[in-house]
Formats: sequence, C-alpha cells, structure tokens
Amino acid sequence: MNTTEKMNVGVIGCGQISSIYLEAPRTFDILNIAACADLDMERARAQAQRFAIPKACSVEELLADPEIDVILNLTIPNVHAEVGIAALEAGKSVYSEKPLAIDRLQGQKFLHMAHQKQLRVGCAPDTFLGGGIQTCLQLIQEGQIGEPIAATAFMLGHGPESWHPDPYFFYQPGAGPMFDMGPYYLTALIALIGPVRRISGTTRITFSERTITSQARYGTKITVNTPTHVTGLMDFASGAIGTIITSFDVWHHHLPRIEIYGTEGTLSVPDPNTFGGPVSLRSAQEKEWRDIPLTHDYTKNSRGIGLADMAYAMRSGTPHRASGAMAFHVLDIMQTIHESSQEGRHIELSSTCDKPAPLQPGLHPWGA
Ligand SMILES: NC(=O)c1ccc[n+]([C@@H]2O[C@H](COP(=O)([O-])OP(=O)(O)OC[C@H]3O[C@@H](n4cnc5c(N)ncnc54)[C@H](O)[C@@H]3O)[C@@H](O)[C@H]2O)c1
Repeated sequence: MNTTEKMNVGVIGCGQISSIYLEAPRTFDILNIAACADLDMERARAQAQRFAIPKACSVEELLADPEIDVILNLTIPNVHAEVGIAALEAGKSVYSEKPLAIDRLQGQKFLHMAHQKQLRVGCAPDTFLGGGIQTCLQLIQEGQIGEPIAATAFMLGHGPESWHPDPYFFYQPGAGPMFDMGPYYLTALIALIGPVRRISGTTRITFSERTITSQARYGTKITVNTPTHVTGLMDFASGAIGTIITSFDVWHHHLPRIEIYGTEGTLSVPDPNTFGGPVSLRSAQEKEWRDIPLTHDYTKNSRGIGLADMAYAMRSGTPHRASGAMAFHVLDIMQTIHESSQEGRHIELSSTCDKPAPLQPGLHPWGA
C-alpha cells in the first residue's frame, strides 16, 4: 500500500477555527481538503473560495460523497458527538475539535460507534505534537528530571466576556473554564506523564452573573450556570500527583502554565495552547534555570498535525496519537472533577488510555 497516498478530507463547520485547519495541506502533503460544509452555506462557500476547495455543500451531501475518507469536525462542542456519529454511520473516520463530547455518555456512544464500524476517531488538541511539548517529552525520557513525582497546571483568568463577541456558551454546562481550556492542559499532562487513575475536585461559582463588555453585545448579562473556578487533584497511574486549576474568576496571578517536578529536577513546560517554547529546566544542583533549545519541529501554529498523523496512521495501519481514547479520558477527568466536588469524595476513573508515542525529531517524522 502507498502509505503517503493523499487522504480526502471533508470539513464540517466553517467558523473561526476552520481557517488554520484549511492551511494544513500546505504543511502536510497527505491531506487533501476535498469539500466543506456548514449549516450556514454562506460560510461554507466563503471558505471554499478562499482556500480553493473544490466543493462547498450541505452536510448531507458531504456525508454521502464516496470520495471522502475522513470528516474534520469543526462544529461547536454540543454537536461534536452528534455530527461525529453521523459521519461514522456514513462510513467515514472522524477527527474532531475538542472536547470529544460534552459528557461521558455522549463520548461513549461516539467511541462505541467507531468500534462497531471499525473506523478511526481522532480529537484535538494536537498541540502536544508541537516542538515545545515534544522537547519536554524527550527531556523526561532522557531522565533529565529523574522520575516525575508531581505536576501543576494553571489556567487562570477573568473569563472571555471582555473580548469574545458571543461569550454566553462559556458559562453554560459543558463549558466553563475546565471543559473549554482543560483539554490543552490535561492532554499535555497525559502525553508527558501518562493516564490518570483517581480524581478529587472542588469547584465554585464566584459571580452568579456576568456582564459582557466586548462590543457587539456590550452590557448584556449572562446567568452563570456552571462552575467558574475548578480545582482538581489527580493521581496518575505512574504514581505522580497532579494539581490543576482552571478559572474564570481570577484577576491576576503569578502561577506558571505547567511544571513537572522530578526526583532530580524541575521542568517548565510551555503554554499547552501553543506549539512552540519556551522550555526551561533546573536540575537539583543548578543555581539557575536553563533555557533548552527545542529538539523538535512544528513550533508554529500547526493545527492539523493530529489529523495528518491520523491520516499517516490509517495508511500504515498503526495507532494515531491524538486518539479518541485519550480525548475520552480527558473528558472523563474533567467531568469527574466536577462530580467529585458535588459528591465530596475521591473517585476512581474507569477510563484510561495509552500514552501517545513520541514523535521523532525533524519534519515529516512519519517517513513521508
Ligand atoms: N476559535 C478558536 O480560537 C478555537 C480554538 C481552538 C479550538 N476551537 C474549537 O473549535 C470548535 C469550533 O470553534 P469556532 O470558534 O470555529 O466556532 P464557530 O462558532 O466560529 O464555528 C462553528 C461553525 O460550525 C457550524 N455548525 C454548528 N453546528 C453545525 C452542524 N450541526 N452542522 C454543520 N455545521 C454546524 C456553525 O454554523 C459555525 O459556522 C469548537 O469546538 C472550539 O472549542 C476554537
């Protein structure tokens, strides 16, 4: 089999994030965007014209097109599972934006359908495949910080209503700071340390109402229906202990994005919502932090690398890295943090996933 033969991709959802994905075939030869669709046909047509995509059509037409192998699902979170399941039913593998689904039950149905149909599910984020986090992974594997014993991950701010044009959904169930931003931090931690075994969490809503101060809806009030300060403790299967805080309630702080604490030193991991650095490390004996040059490529915004990796894996029959199983594990962790807070107890997770295999340094490390 030709392992680099192009994969025909049909895009569903032509909103804000679609542009960066539609540039991905310039970097990843294996991808061919064959068609795009949206509930809003104007958006689909506009993106088709801008990126020279041969066909803009309805979702039904896209799913019925026998030439399309993979659906790239860039719709909004509460329809990710529904659109994904429809694509699987039409016989197509799916790569979805995050989160995989907005709850565990939907996520389970999605993966169950993929298993029944023997098709692939991949899911964002794919930032862990960027040069920054892959460099961190290499450092850990080389033993540069010894055995990882603990990690912290912090995403704190005062919410998106000051800059996002339509921030209503951020304050509804299935969103909040954990479901919106948690996937970047949790996926990075799983890539670096492995899966999580047990969770405890504490959450609160600090402000019951938000006032939009971005322009279009300036002054509109939003009733807050989901926790906005979410703290989780994670026992990793490896024995390491993780602490994560995601918050829309904090004005200012001095906390790092992600740090990994090892028996021999500490690793400072870059913002997991980016592909590059900086990476720095300080071993037990060192007096100062040391900046580490990145060992891996894909340091610019390379959204689509996870889809390209899935396409190569489909051609060669190997596992893909940004897997549905890992995205489900992330979803399970996020939901369980909220449930632990409600129930006042530690909760053992029933899901797990494989730690994704590291990329080799260099461009097109798949051997294209
Ligand atoms: N915007 C960002 O910066 C960003 C960054 C990272 C990830 N994401 C993720 O990307 C996804 C999309 O975000 P966005 O900002 O592009 O949203 P968006 O609202 O700009 O675009 C979503 C598009 O999906 C279409 N759509 C909705 N339901 C549909 C359906 N059932 N069938 C067909 N089309 C449908 C909408 O018409 C819209 O054009 C979300 O999951 C989000 O979490 C966005």
